[in-house]
This record gives sequence, C-alpha cells and structure tokens, in this order.
Amino acid sequence: MKQLCVELGEKSYPIYIGSNLLGQQTLMQKHIKSKQVLIVTNTTVSALYLEKVIKSLDTFQVETIELPDGEQYKSLEYLTKIFDLLLEQKYSRNATLLALGGGVIGDMGGFAAACYQRGIVFIQIPTTVLAQVDSSVGGKTGVNHPLGKNMIGAFYQPQCVIADIDVLDTLDDRHLVAGIAEIIKYGLIRDLALFEWLEKNMSLLLARDKEALAYVIERSCINKAEIVAEDEFESGIRAILNLGHTFGHAIETGMGYGMYIHGEAVAIGMGYAADLSHRLGWISIQDVDRIIKLLKQAQLPVIPPKEMDVAQFVELMSVDKKNVDGKIRVILLEAIGKAALPISVDQQLLEQTLRDYGQ
Ligand code: NAD
Ligand code: GLY
Repeated sequence: MKQLCVELGEKSYPIYIGSNLLGQQTLMQKHIKSKQVLIVTNTTVSALYLEKVIKSLDTFQVETIELPDGEQYKSLEYLTKIFDLLLEQKYSRNATLLALGGGVIGDMGGFAAACYQRGIVFIQIPTTVLAQVDSSVGGKTGVNHPLGKNMIGAFYQPQCVIADIDVLDTLDDRHLVAGIAEIIKYGLIRDLALFEWLEKNMSLLLARDKEALAYVIERSCINKAEIVAEDEFESGIRAILNLGHTFGHAIETGMGYGMYIHGEAVAIGMGYAADLSHRLGWISIQDVDRIIKLLKQAQLPVIPPKEMDVAQFVELMSVDKKNVDGKIRVILLEAIGKAALPISVDQQLLEQTLRDYGQ
C-alpha cells in the first residue's frame, strides 16, 4: 500500500492507495471517531462493495443510504434525503459519513457531511478512476443546479481517502476512459513526464494493468495534493486543475447532465483549450496535434457536440466559478506540462475557437 499526505496543517490527511484496502479492518476503522457511521452510496456500487465495507466496520453502528445512480441525482433534492436520514436517525455531531462511490457520491456525501450540524467526520472511499485520481482529494464538495454544474457547495476536507485499486475491475470501459481524461490533465498542466509516460503506456492503462493503474493514481494524487496544499480555497494556482472544465461544464449542462460524462466533456474541453492556446500563440500546432493524439489514443471524444452553438456555449460559460465581474475566464496552456492561471480572453478569439475547433 502507498500512503501520501495532503499537507494542510491541522486538516492534513492521508491518501491510501493499494489492493484489497476495503477488506482491511484496521485501515477501514482507523479514522472513524464514533459508533455512528452512515455510508452514502448508490445502487450500483452498493450491490458490488457495500457488504465488504460493512464487514470491515463490524464493530460500528452502520447504516446506509443508497441513492439512485447518475449525475442527474447530484441535486439538492437528493442531498435532502441524506439530511432526512441523518435527522430521523438522530445522528450526533461526532458521527462519521463515509462516501462509497464515484465523484457524484463523493461530492454529495462530502457536502452533506460539511453541512450536517455544521460538519461531521467525512471519509472518502472513491470507486472510479476519476474519483481516485481527482475528486476524492482536495475537499471540493457540492451538488449541481439546473443553471450550473457544481454551483452549490463547500470546501470540506475528508479525514482520509481510501483508494482500493481492485474496485476498478468492475468499472465499465467508458468510465475507465473518462477517468483517464483527468490523468492526462495533470500531464498537461504540470507534469510533462506523466504526459510522456501516457504517450508510451496508454495501452497498459486501457488493458487495466494493475501496476500501470497504481502508478498513474499515485502520480495524479501527488500532483493534486501538492496543488491543494498550496492553494486549498482556489485563490490562485488550484484553478489550473480546471483545464478544459469551463468548456466541459458547458457541454455537460448544455447537453443535459449524464449525456456526456464528466471526463468525456473535459476531454473535449481540453481540445478547445489547446486550440485557444494555439490561437493566442502560446503553443504550436504540433503541440495541439500531440494533445489531440493522446486524447484519441485514450479513446476519449475530442469533437464537440453538433447540437450546441457558439451562443449557447458563451451563455453557459458565463456561469462559472472562475469568472470575475461577469467575464469568462479560462485555463490555457503555455506549453505541454505548464498551464497558466485563469485569463479572460478576447471574446472574438474565444468565439473563433468555439466556432472552428473540431470542424
Ligand atoms: P460517477 O460517480 O457517476 O460514477 C460513474 C459510474 O460508475 C456510476 O454509474 C457509478 O455507479 C459507477 N461506479 C462507481 N464505482 C464503480 C465500480 N467500482 N464498479 C462499477 N461501477 C462503478 O462519476 P465519476 O466519473 O466518478 O465522477 C463524476 C463526478 O465527479 C461529477 O459530478 C464531477 O463534477 C465530479 N468531480 C468532482 C471533483 C472534485 O474535486 N470534487 C473533481 C472532478 C469531478
Ligand atoms: N477538480 C478540481 C479541483 O479539485 O480543484
């Protein structure tokens, strides 16, 4: 097992990465501070892993809430169901909420833990590649609103992250690939060596080679932990983690949550970001081609949905947490392996990218 640390002073916490972690009682119980434990999960993950988790927590008073599976349920309506249960069952302030699932469950469970009695102990057990390399680390929690993705939420750090690589065996290919988009993102924003490793070893990842998966999960978590340690509340450098996300969120919202899954939308968004970086003269056309080639190698989509026009993109991109004074700001690349802080680009140039990229 590998152990990393997110260095945040008193709020520092470990990330455990390895095989068969769900079955390790000592590890699973280590960060729980009270008898009452609520597992928040969904129907899919519950059928696969709930029993194993409950078995590891046999000395606790464990209850479970199973939410329906899907991004469309990452909403205030379903968040309320978690609060209803916590209140009905009289959960105390020292109770523990354990999120067992992908990014949707992690974000919702974390937000519920942040809000209930102004904060209870929270543990992340991420079960998708995306959640293990990104969403479970760093404390961003929240839900979607029909008018904007992740627009209602809080920063709330977990007590620990337990990333069991074995659970990825049951993940479908589409979500495996979507998670790889976020790994490519780390390569693009600050880790050229990772980008180059991915260029050489993508076939190993797609074949679910355990060693390769463990390597990229660890490497991604190191990148994420370093950024979060430097800028927990995203007043600066943390924003580079949003490469491709402003475009991607517009696609997710514009097409209806669930049509394009997060990693797919981000992959197309990184294509847009590469194109715009080139239009600004920051990266060469060869760099753009290299980025698109890696995304395609990962079997990620790179062509934007035909259904969305420039006006709709601009409208949706104007609802983004990076925007300042109503101006759209995006993360762009100065090179492969180096992202710049958010900038507001000339509207005409942005519209050119939105019109021409992928045509
Ligand atoms: P998800 O949570 O919807 O999981 C994807 C699918 O895989 C679901 O159907 C789920 O039931 C299933 N699943 C989960 N684990 C499984 C397993 N081990 N075996 C089989 N099936 C399994 O989606 P996701 O891609 O994990 O996360 C996307 C969400 O994460 C989005 O809502 C996004 O906004 C959020 N996100 C948050 C952050 C953050 O920093 N908080 C970062 C990136 C993304
Ligand atoms: N996924 C972006 C962040 O955690 O900041």
